[in-house]
Amino acid sequence: MNVTVFGLGFVGLTTALGLAHIGNKVYGVDVDAARKKTLRGGQLPFLEPHMDEVLKTHLDKNFFVTDDVAASVSDSEVIFYCVGTPYGEDGSADLTYLFAAIDTTIEAVADDKFRVLVTKSTIPPSTTAEKIIPHVKSKCGEKNFAVANNPEFLREGHCWEDFIGADRIVIGTDEERAREVLTTLYTPLNAPIKCVTPSTGEFIKYLSNTLLATLISYSNEMAQVADTIGGIDVAEAFRILHMDKRWNIAVGGGIK
Ligand SMILES: NC(=O)c1ccc[n+]([C@@H]2O[C@H](COP(=O)([O-])OP(=O)(O)OC[C@H]3O[C@@H](n4cnc5c(N)ncnc54)[C@H](O)[C@@H]3O)[C@@H](O)[C@H]2O)c1
Repeated sequence: MNVTVFGLGFVGLTTALGLAHIGNKVYGVDVDAARKKTLRGGQLPFLEPHMDEVLKTHLDKNFFVTDDVAASVSDSEVIFYCVGTPYGEDGSADLTYLFAAIDTTIEAVADDKFRVLVTKSTIPPSTTAEKIIPHVKSKCGEKNFAVANNPEFLREGHCWEDFIGADRIVIGTDEERAREVLTTLYTPLNAPIKCVTPSTGEFIKYLSNTLLATLISYSNEMAQVADTIGGIDVAEAFRILHMDKRWNIAVGGGIK
């Protein structure tokens, strides 16, 4: 499949190289000229284990850092958005970069070929349904787009292993054709693929982020308590804590 990825940061570069690695032709687009120059020279713009070798393997073979957005988007069936969505002081996500990249895509397309526009950036639940889909519909005219989200769960410092060895792939879309295209794209990763509504997909990413933050705060608090008491092997205590099957609770199952 042919794919364009907007934003070549941790998430976008990993996605682009990961999809190139499993047999796709991938175009990478970024607004940062220095970042593109570094990548074209075969260097990573940040430290990330294994990715420098993968970049060298795929650069200019099936991964292309391009300035010709019109040509890359026209040649692609799937367009990923991996741009920043920083949080403002009021906690709302700044979607400026995301909508700029979506608008660039819509303007670049001149035919009515079916394409899937996929947000990988982290966006608040309901953004796809209430903002992205209405925006795309209002601008696309006769052009043929489906919209989906596909949240990313990777950790900086472990980007490659987290992408290639993903625990699960979440595809949030109401459109059957988009579901089929993205399922086909991700099948070579051999990870469970979960198809849900767009808002469910976005909510899963928020559940993941908030639970991880809660667990980190809780673990730090409990480690301090253990230090104060003394004589406690905290790492061992947590390992044994996590052996409890009840942590795999399902909705409605509750903790007994
Ligand atoms: N870094 C992580 O660990 C992580 C994990 C999961 C999800 N996320 C989410 O993924 C998204 C991207 O995160 P990141 O860490 O990769 O960000 P990043 O800042 O490393 O990279 C974003 C890239 O997008 C580029 N960009 C901005 N506007 C653009 C445009 N219009 N067209 C093309 N490129 C454009 C920037 O120049 C930059 O290179 C964010 O929403 C973030 O919350 C990040």
